[in-house]
Amino acid sequence: MQQPNGSQPAAAVDSRRGFLAKLAAVAAGGLATLTPVAVGVWSFLDPLRRKGAAASFLPITELSAIPDDGVPRQFAVVAERIDAWTGFPREPIGAVYLRREKGSQQVEALSATCPHAGCFVELEGNARCFRCPCHNSTFTLDGGIVEPSPSPRTMDSLECRVGPHGEVAVKWENFYSGIAEKKART
Ligand code: FES
Repeated sequence: MQQPNGSQPAAAVDSRRGFLAKLAAVAAGGLATLTPVAVGVWSFLDPLRRKGAAASFLPITELSAIPDDGVPRQFAVVAERIDAWTGFPREPIGAVYLRREKGSQQVEALSATCPHAGCFVELEGNARCFRCPCHNSTFTLDGGIVEPSPSPRTMDSLECRVGPHGEVAVKWENFYSGIAEKKART
C-alpha cells in the first residue's frame, strides 16, 4: 500500500530487492554455464580449423638445393601433426620430389605417395623414371603414367612456389588412392 508520504511499505521494498537479487544470481549462473560451453565448442572446432590450415604452403627447402638438371630430388615434408585433439611437435608427414630444368627458377613438385595404394614411389637408380616397389607402377620424371600400370592415374602434382629469397614451399595435400580422379582428402 502507498504510504501517506508517497513512500513504499518496507515489505514491498524488501520483496523487490529479493527479486532483483534472484535475477542477478540467475544471470550470473547462466554466464557461468555458458562460458565453459563456449570454450568447449571452440575446443571442439579447433582441430577442424587447424585441419583447414593443413592444406597451406609448407616450407621445404632452398632453390639452391635443387640442381637445375631436370632430375627430381626427394625432400621430407615436415609439419606439426594434429591427431584428433592432440598436437604433436614437428615431424615428417610425407615426402615430395622437386625438380627444375636448366636455368629455370620454376620448381615442379610431385607427391612421393603412390596414387595406386599409397606406397612410397622411388626414383630408379638410373634416374630415368619413378617406380613404386609395391605393385610396380612406373612413372616418367614429370609424373606421367607408363602403361601398363596398376596406378589409375599419374603421380600427384603439388602447387609449389619460390619466395624472393629462394625459399621453396609446397602446398601439401593428401589425395585418395586407387581412383582415376585426383581428389584431395579433406
Ligand atoms: S601402391 Fe604403388 S603400385 Fe601399388
